Amino acid sequence: MRDFADRLIAWQRHHGRHDLPWQGTRDPYRIWLSEIMLQQTQVDTVIPYYQRFLAHFPDVASLAAAPVEDVMALWSGLGYYARARNLHRAARTIIEAHGGAFPRSAAEIAGLPGIGRSTAAAIAAFAYGERAAILDGNVKRVLCRVFGVDGFTGEKAVESRLWALAESLLPEREVGRYIQAQMDLGATLCTRGKPACARCPFSEDCVARRENRIAELPTPRPKKVVPRRQARFAVITREDRVLLERRPPTGIWGGLLALPEIPDEVADVGAWTAERFGLACAAPQLLAPLTHAFTHFVLDIEPIRLHATANAAPHTLADEPTLLWQPLASAGDAALPTPVRRILDALQTPDLFSD
Ligand code: ADE
Repeated sequence: MRDFADRLIAWQRHHGRHDLPWQGTRDPYRIWLSEIMLQQTQVDTVIPYYQRFLAHFPDVASLAAAPVEDVMALWSGLGYYARARNLHRAARTIIEAHGGAFPRSAAEIAGLPGIGRSTAAAIAAFAYGERAAILDGNVKRVLCRVFGVDGFTGEKAVESRLWALAESLLPEREVGRYIQAQMDLGATLCTRGKPACARCPFSEDCVARRENRIAELPTPRPKKVVPRRQARFAVITREDRVLLERRPPTGIWGGLLALPEIPDEVADVGAWTAERFGLACAAPQLLAPLTHAFTHFVLDIEPIRLHATANAAPHTLADEPTLLWQPLASAGDAALPTPVRRILDALQTPDLFSD
């Protein structure tokens, strides 16, 4: 599309935003402050903070001279506080390393703390009219949709492609208005959910719209493939109690009480129970399996019910401080891992199980 920038600029003239407090200035300090505040934060939230901040610190020198605590106090409530600390550090760098003069090019601006390539370009374009491309989240979304760019934008290769595209689309003139137009289109029409395609200057050409892929572009972050593990838990009951075991301090549920885990190599669960706990049990019975998601893996759990026969000698637990006969009725009071609690809850609602 050869006239992308021209059409966007024409659209901005009539439909873009023109009255934001940081527009209508070429003061790089004011533009910088607004761009930092607008990272991860909505325009409406930023406006009062921006005005209050400028009233206290009207220029780089006053910001650099202030104690960092005063800067943080004015930022308080805006969130992402590293932004404020970097702003203050950058102001001091400008005074100490640039003789108090705001850097004059996107490349130099990008060398200041807390300013990435896209923010540096926006400041240079607005303040100096430099032909520098931006690529923030909104712009990525617009480019991915209009030009049908596939792939997760957090991937290096996709991002490089988008930077190259953004550079190739830059107009010769009115760069400031063009940059603002990109921001405005992404924020007001080409939104993440329910974009207003009918009012978009690219509605006829947009690849995502033509191919009915608006909901698919930009490509979402790929879901991590999480490993699955299996575990068998012994639900050993005797009269109205269940046998719990404190887990080793490391590994899943470290130090918590849980159902004893049957080692993978055990084939005869009844024999294992007799040997491990000194209990004779009725035939093992498979209970309803369940799944539990941890951060790094998914655990498929097979609970196996073993009811100790009445004449079975209860193990003398004094020798085994990690074991405990927990009354089923008060199992809910113990600090149990969620799946263990679910198994014990289901045990008291027997129709949930398939016996
Ligand atoms: N978001 C980031 N920069 C912006 C700007 N200059 N105007 C409106 N929203 C923005």
